Amino acid sequence: MCGIIGIASNKKVSTNIVNALKKLEYRGYDSAGLATITNGEINEKKCSGRVEKLEKILFQSPNEGNLGIGHVRWATHGVPNEVNAHPHSSEIVSVVHNGIIENSDKLKKEFEKSGTTFKSQTDTEVITVLLTEKLKKLDPLKAVFETIDMLKGSFALGIIFKNHKEFVIGARRGSPLAVGYSNNENYLGSDSYALKSMTNKISYLDDGDVCVLSKDEVKFYNHNKDKINKEIFTLSEDKASVSKGNYKNFMIKEIFEQPVTVKTCLKEYIDKIREEINFYNLPLDPKEINKIVLIGCGTAYHSCLVAKYWFEEFTSINIEVDIASEFRYRKVRFDKKALYIFVSQSGETADTYAALDLCKRQNVKTCSVINVVESSIARNSNCVLPIHAGPEIGVASTKAFLGQMLVLYLLSLKISEVRNDMQNIEYKKKISELKKLPTLISEALKEEEKIQLIAKDICESKGSMFLGRGSSFPIALEGALKLKELSYLHAEGYPAGEMKHGPLALIEDGLPVVVIAPKDKYFEKTLSNMQEVIARGGKVLLLTNSDGKVISENIRFQINLPDSDLTLTPFIFTIPLQLLSYHVALFKKCDIDKPRNLAKSVTVE
Ligand code: G6P
Repeated sequence: MCGIIGIASNKKVSTNIVNALKKLEYRGYDSAGLATITNGEINEKKCSGRVEKLEKILFQSPNEGNLGIGHVRWATHGVPNEVNAHPHSSEIVSVVHNGIIENSDKLKKEFEKSGTTFKSQTDTEVITVLLTEKLKKLDPLKAVFETIDMLKGSFALGIIFKNHKEFVIGARRGSPLAVGYSNNENYLGSDSYALKSMTNKISYLDDGDVCVLSKDEVKFYNHNKDKINKEIFTLSEDKASVSKGNYKNFMIKEIFEQPVTVKTCLKEYIDKIREEINFYNLPLDPKEINKIVLIGCGTAYHSCLVAKYWFEEFTSINIEVDIASEFRYRKVRFDKKALYIFVSQSGETADTYAALDLCKRQNVKTCSVINVVESSIARNSNCVLPIHAGPEIGVASTKAFLGQMLVLYLLSLKISEVRNDMQNIEYKKKISELKKLPTLISEALKEEEKIQLIAKDICESKGSMFLGRGSSFPIALEGALKLKELSYLHAEGYPAGEMKHGPLALIEDGLPVVVIAPKDKYFEKTLSNMQEVIARGGKVLLLTNSDGKVISENIRFQINLPDSDLTLTPFIFTIPLQLLSYHVALFKKCDIDKPRNLAKSVTVE
């Protein structure tokens, strides 16, 4: 899983390749590399580590050449080192790849029998070897078609040829690939975001497509090898900035941006004059919907879990929630009267996309809640509901999580109103409560100083637990996920009522336990579970909104969050959890924006 770029130009390309790779680092950042054609030879530079390191190597020894490909890697086959970094080149061809070749072992073994030795442990190198063989007899385009016919799995490829310094070939199956157009220069990229600083004119390859990109034109072919034309889209302007400003890193900037992103999203969906939520183009009449299935991965999956509580509370519809990587392989009974909602910040997550594709093939109605409106998931769903959060750069999702929850909350309210499941007066009241959300989030952000002290207190612990009931349960899951991914501290999220069925055995003296207990219908019960933890030595951080009163002397820390409509507590109680994971990671000197082993957008299964 990785990011790829290719440029054909009338001027040197290596600086633009490096700049585009920096934008693609959200897809992988454990190694980087590029290849250009310099003086008729393939000139490859690669390294383990970040694009910055590659940039330094190129500063010492620049790559000439008007044609090139580049890559950032998130290792699947083979450790992240220089040899396994892309491109993978032979004497005559060089390849960058995003995806997984599932039959690479089989193909490798066949080549090894006839004496070929492989330099790397990657699945990609087999593509280089196959192409090198085919190029002995075929022209580049035919060699690419014959090669990809032999591959199983998913790929987006960028390929250059020693003897053809005028074009880059791109090919796609499963992994996304975009083409960008400019004067005397054309581009290939894993997404439009990487190309945005160079052009706003974009086309997208479909599965099976191949393109030949020279500086003056781009030719497209479909899987039948027929020449085809592609629609050219004009990208929207980014309103939000992608600089850190005065913040230490993107994550903290994105946490503090949340009052604004929530406000923007509310403005987009709530009609100010009529006090009405606007959702156009829903693919099913809300009155006809008999089931809603919410699907996502990681943090997006958690937003689906929270939304289940809202849909159940506000509507009479049956709700199911699924992890995309599970949904896509289950024997699902598809339902024409069900609405399948896909939630994804990037809109490129491979499992979520595959689950959407499955629904598309079954001809059921789909809707996507996404941040990147040009993404594959957005383009392939029947209806798109953007979260309007602006670019999210930190790998650990924060403002996008709030944005996803907000759109799902608005959708549940709207569907409920249209179906007459909720009375109009209640609906209007909920809308007016929602408008207070930006201020409530700003209030919650004021707890940062206190949270810093708590973070210092728990950062050396060997584990931690996060507990909640009702919609606070998925918030506990999200709090635990944030802590693990950012600070590498083991954390478990659990429904507070389940503790007695096993996890209570984990509680020992000094183990940090975060208890999420807004003053809702579960409050007393959650406090009882908290006491059970305290009785066994757990060090409790209680998040509640009990007007500043200390509830028990045995609580190590207590944070009182602002009061709100009770259905809105997930938004507010998420804030201290984001800040907690951030400050623990800061104390532990972890890489906040790029945690180890992870990637922002996971484009492999
Ligand atoms: C990765 C990211 C997570 C994200 C998940 C789903 O694992 O590190 O932050 O929640 O992918 O991503 P999506 O773009 O589909 O929301």
